[in-house]
Amino acid sequence: MMARPRVVVAVVLPPAGLESLQLRYDVDVGSERPERRWLLDHVRGAAGMVAGPAVPVDSELLDAAEGSLKVVANFGVGYDNLDVEAVRARGIRATNTPDVLTNATAELAVTLMLAAGRRVAEADAVVRSGSWPHETRLLGRELSGTTVGLIGFGRIGRRVAELLSGFGTRVLYSSRSEAPAQDVAERRELPELMSTSDFISVHVPLSSETHHLIDGPLLAGIKPGAILVNTSRGGVIETGALIEALRSGRVGAAGLDVYEDEPDVPRALRELPNTVLLPHVGSATGKTRDAMARLCVENLVAVIEGREPPTPVA
Ligand code: 8YV
Repeated sequence: MMARPRVVVAVVLPPAGLESLQLRYDVDVGSERPERRWLLDHVRGAAGMVAGPAVPVDSELLDAAEGSLKVVANFGVGYDNLDVEAVRARGIRATNTPDVLTNATAELAVTLMLAAGRRVAEADAVVRSGSWPHETRLLGRELSGTTVGLIGFGRIGRRVAELLSGFGTRVLYSSRSEAPAQDVAERRELPELMSTSDFISVHVPLSSETHHLIDGPLLAGIKPGAILVNTSRGGVIETGALIEALRSGRVGAAGLDVYEDEPDVPRALRELPNTVLLPHVGSATGKTRDAMARLCVENLVAVIEGREPPTPVA
């Protein structure tokens, strides 16, 4: 009898995906954040690997498979962890999980706008400490009637614009390409978007072009007191420059779900009162994570069975 193909799972894959993998293949499951050494050892001879944003997939790891690897299926829409050129050069396929997490991530971006604007984390901390603020304290800012700038206008950015339609905001976006004619948002160059928006939300993928796209000079031109939200990748914002801008008040508050060096969150960000900090939970709803797991596995199985995967990136 032919040996079953083996698959390495380097993320915490919900049962909706893991169980269907286990029906078909021998599956090696790593810990929550598998050690690089574990991965290098286990990828040897594997036909497939499930990776995620915290798992760098580079030439060294691909070569450690010694030619067995057919597919790297990323559990997530972002694939900045993948060296796409190295994957292609070895004739390996790579896939991601777009669409299924668009709404969950967009809702979290709006959540962070509201939470940072209304100082939800600060207010919660006051109550938990057993005290009660004077009613003139903790004054926040409403979304309604403001201008929201979306940096990036792909699937998630557009969904944010749709969700905002009930808030009576004016929505601007910056993007390399013009969106098809529609009325939910107006295109602006990035510096103009920064200087005119009251809330700014980041929706570009991380790449060499977007790394530190939001740096000191760009933040110096932000509308004074604007609120900055990031549910994309930490590396799009230069963290040191953001901390300075939050300290000076130039940036009024930040709502962050992602960081440059996860799971490390700089102490300065944690100590600032005007930040709302989440642990990369943009796609973390039961429904969405199940859908991601199913799509991830569908991709992986398709490649191993010699079919075209539904959502390839390489
Ligand atoms: C993660 C994400 O994949 O989709 C992405 O790009 O960053 C998230 O959905 C998820 O947190 C699993 O690690």
